[in-house]
Amino acid sequence: MTSVGADAAYPMGEPVDQARFRAVLGRFATGVTVVTCVVDGADHAMTANSLTSVSLAPPLVLICVERETRFHEAILAATHWGVSVLGSPARGAATWLATRGRPLAGQLDPVAHHRSSLTEVALVDDALAWLEVRTTAVHDGGDHSIIVGEVVSLALADDPPPALTFFRGRYGHLD
Ligand SMILES: Cc1cc2nc3c(=O)[nH]c(=O)nc-3n(C[C@H](O)[C@H](O)[C@H](O)COP(=O)(O)O)c2cc1C
Repeated sequence: MTSVGADAAYPMGEPVDQARFRAVLGRFATGVTVVTCVVDGADHAMTANSLTSVSLAPPLVLICVERETRFHEAILAATHWGVSVLGSPARGAATWLATRGRPLAGQLDPVAHHRSSLTEVALVDDALAWLEVRTTAVHDGGDHSIIVGEVVSLALADDPPPALTFFRGRYGHLD
């Protein structure tokens, strides 16, 4: 097989540069999450679509966090993190929490959220589901770190909105 389809812009065997890597992985449609943690009483948050289910028993998930982000230092310092699986009404929150250089102090003020009584992490209200996770391992992942954790709590929204999606570099929604 020399191509991945009649409209393949990138035939197999071409060099793997960053543009091609992004274009190809951008065709892997995902949901969108906000990952949160608390360090020294301060909330940290970042939009992420690298959430992956790892194991059922024990219940493990992972996220990949770019080393250059400010969230990287925060999540390595935290013992627990929260994941909000975003609904389409949270698109503005996703855009905001993916904005590099935004002020960190009060970054969750414009985002409707509540706080877990178990781990104290902030969880975004406009979500389909929530997870609370305890970090169990951190692995090297090139320019990212792979943060693996055990799910210690989870919840489903009673009346979930459409899912917020990310596909080919754009937000969308799925009912
Ligand atoms: C849809 C979407 C998904 C993203 N997923 C990730 C991700 O999984 N891991 C990551 O490190 N950055 C991801 N980013 C980029 C971060 O959200 C972005 O770099 C953010 O500004 C980092 O914030 P900080 O530097 O304040 O920590 C994603 C951005 C978007 C728009």
